Amino acid sequence: MNSTYPSSISAWHDTDEIYARLYALVKQPIRPLRRDRMNEALRYFEENCTRSKALTDEAKQYIPGGVQHNLAFNYPFPIAIERAEGAYLWDVDGNRYIDFLQAGGPTMLGSNYAPLREIIANLLQSCGPVTGLFHEYELKLAKLINRFMPSVEMFRMLGSGTESVMAATRAARTFTRKRKIIKVGGAYHGWSDAMVYGLHIPGTGRMEAKGIPRGASSHTQEFYPNDLGALRRLMIRNRLRGGTAAVIVEPVGPESGTRPVPFDFNQKVRQLCDEFGALLIFDEVVTGFRLGMGGAQAYFDVRPDLTVFGKCITGGYPMAGGVGGRRDIMMRFAAGIGGTGERAYVGGTLSANPLSCAAGYYALLEMERTNAPLIAGQAGDRLTRGLNAMIAKYGLPYVAYNQGSIVHLETSGTMLLDFRNPLKLLKEVKPRKHMMEEMGAAYMANGIVTLAGSRMYTSMADTDEVIDDALECFERVLSSAENVRG
Ligand SMILES: Cc1ncc(COP(=O)(O)O)c(C=O)c1O
Repeated sequence: MNSTYPSSISAWHDTDEIYARLYALVKQPIRPLRRDRMNEALRYFEENCTRSKALTDEAKQYIPGGVQHNLAFNYPFPIAIERAEGAYLWDVDGNRYIDFLQAGGPTMLGSNYAPLREIIANLLQSCGPVTGLFHEYELKLAKLINRFMPSVEMFRMLGSGTESVMAATRAARTFTRKRKIIKVGGAYHGWSDAMVYGLHIPGTGRMEAKGIPRGASSHTQEFYPNDLGALRRLMIRNRLRGGTAAVIVEPVGPESGTRPVPFDFNQKVRQLCDEFGALLIFDEVVTGFRLGMGGAQAYFDVRPDLTVFGKCITGGYPMAGGVGGRRDIMMRFAAGIGGTGERAYVGGTLSANPLSCAAGYYALLEMERTNAPLIAGQAGDRLTRGLNAMIAKYGLPYVAYNQGSIVHLETSGTMLLDFRNPLKLLKEVKPRKHMMEEMGAAYMANGIVTLAGSRMYTSMADTDEVIDDALECFERVLSSAENVRG
């Protein structure tokens, strides 16, 4: 472990023990909330969220599904947010929630952090959000990232994590002159044509690839989470089929560590990449700066060839994306009009605008100064400890675990289904998914916003008091599951 910067993770979990509990959860029938308590939760929305309902009902006429972001699609209907501050969100009906969605992860300093907002407001007074020309903050941000993550010798800013994964894989192919990109089954690396493959559920290949020509993902491959033998076999086979350009991993495991890795997994993938002449790409869209200023690469002490950024890279401000890494590979992105034949093309009207760069620069400095990743990690530990105590107290099969400020609460086991057992998957995915939605609704009715009812991101704003309040809310929900002990 590289200890230049404190990590958000106090101790790596016992991965085998977590899987044992997760598999036990998926083996048994679902244990949802008692119907009367679930109906009570649903009544909350009808009675207390009328303006949200009116707005999002009307939005359905103009916006497909009524909301623009997949994570905002909450059951029984989306909630419209009016105000955000620190650990809290307020909806348009005036209800307050503890915010464990944290916009999907970027706001480590807490929502709408005032010192950052003031800096950005001042910047807007002087040069506005974009000019299309170089701004000093581009340099400042790239230098700062290089200080935190020495593997990022050069950095290219882009508009989102999705774009940055596209860029990283393109550079890998240009640099290695090889074809295949291998990802872990179930991992989400954005929604580009090539990456909508083995999405969310391992082994499902092109199942979600509606509207994507077969050729677009014909050189994308997946292997089951943590199956290093399968990865090796793919790389051997690829030798005769164009070679492996890169292996891309989320270093804590797919979906922010929902299927967690053993501690030495990344080191072993690094070794395989070296053996087969493939590049190692770390997708640090979630883990970058959340696990510590050095990211997951510092925590696992593994040096990737390329790192993909998103989310925290702009402190929650728009256009959060970038790719960085080895100078010789990054030079494939050299800017300017006119190609050299060696170039991996990237672009974007708003890439590297001063607003995003300044937001990222000051957010990262502030996170370093305040030790935000460490504080958020301690909040994650406290939350997980409390949840596990409750699970034991009520005799529930649920599983809580965390990687610092990334907290998982699996109640339905949806995220553990895979294509190795297709019959079980087909039969159970819908009811388990519905339970997950219901749990999300019940948490919300009790004052907590989660990510899809199974994941939570903590931030620096989550004091012990906030976490203890949240645990009281969770206890109201978990104690109303079917057949609780006591
Ligand atoms: C690990 C990972 N990679 C890539 C992405 C895509 O990033 P963006 O939503 O900025 O396109 C996400 C988004 O959640 C992610 O979690």
